[in-house]
Amino acid sequence: MKVLVATDKPFAKVAVDGIRKEIEAAGYELVLLEKYGEKAKLLEAVKDANAIIIRSDIIDAEVLDAAKDLKIVVRAGAGYDNVDLEAATAHNVCVMNTPGQNSNAVAELAFGLMVMAVRNMYNGTSGTELMGKKLGIHAYGNVGRNVARIAKGFGMEIYAFDAFCPKEVIEKDGVKAVGSAEELYSICNVVSLHIPATAETKNSINHALVNRLPKGGLLVNTARKEVINEAELIQLMEERADLKYMTDIMPAAHETFAAKFAGRYFSTPKKMGAQTAEANINAGIAAAKQIVGFLKDGCEKFRVNK
Ligand code: 3PG
Repeated sequence: MKVLVATDKPFAKVAVDGIRKEIEAAGYELVLLEKYGEKAKLLEAVKDANAIIIRSDIIDAEVLDAAKDLKIVVRAGAGYDNVDLEAATAHNVCVMNTPGQNSNAVAELAFGLMVMAVRNMYNGTSGTELMGKKLGIHAYGNVGRNVARIAKGFGMEIYAFDAFCPKEVIEKDGVKAVGSAEELYSICNVVSLHIPATAETKNSINHALVNRLPKGGLLVNTARKEVINEAELIQLMEERADLKYMTDIMPAAHETFAAKFAGRYFSTPKKMGAQTAEANINAGIAAAKQIVGFLKDGCEKFRVNK
């Protein structure tokens, strides 16, 4: 059995070593394709792969067509919007993710972005503190929970909205559950986004919603760029010079944001939320173990295409 690790944004070496150990202990062969850049290289590499570990790498119908012997794809991470689930099911390929394995890393980066924003991008002028400010966690999944845990250390007042998570689950963490996204944005000084990119959430973070933020409001995005209605956010930030936007996922309109909103907009050059050795080890080794469990015992825990 051939297991391909196809990561345009590579894992830390220590994580690749750990993945290799799991795969070779199972008697399988590991093939590494890193920083491949062009899709053609991925199409070539998948030809004889029986299993693939990916990160944000795109697995679409064309890739699945080329991967004639493929049985399983594991997205080492949480969001699987980069995999065409319908096409995978049609090709009889199991798709899994590794929920929770990189969530602390993403949550920590959200705070890195928050501190940078409230300290005026470290430009030497007086900023503000996070202590005592109201933080809104938009979606209370694995990352949202870690954000809440860290926010307590900062002394923030914590609110959350999650359309799918029961109020009691949120409130047992000492977080105030609110009934709608609108309410969350109206209350909070800072909103940290943790929603997945789905048909329902794409473009949902729009002018009307973000405009509810109080004066000096800060939006932090370590989720997905697709959830932002970029044209409307640009328009709003033109109208409101008090708003700040910090993101770990470079917007399609990055040049415009950077040119118009210097000092109150920042994007990491490459999505870095999960770029820690710990997250790479956790997610990468979990992915390897899930592949072995699936190929040897038919275990389908964490399957996302039913
Ligand atoms: C995820 O969905 O797990 C995170 O967004 C991290 O993605 P990455 O593996 O591409 O860094």
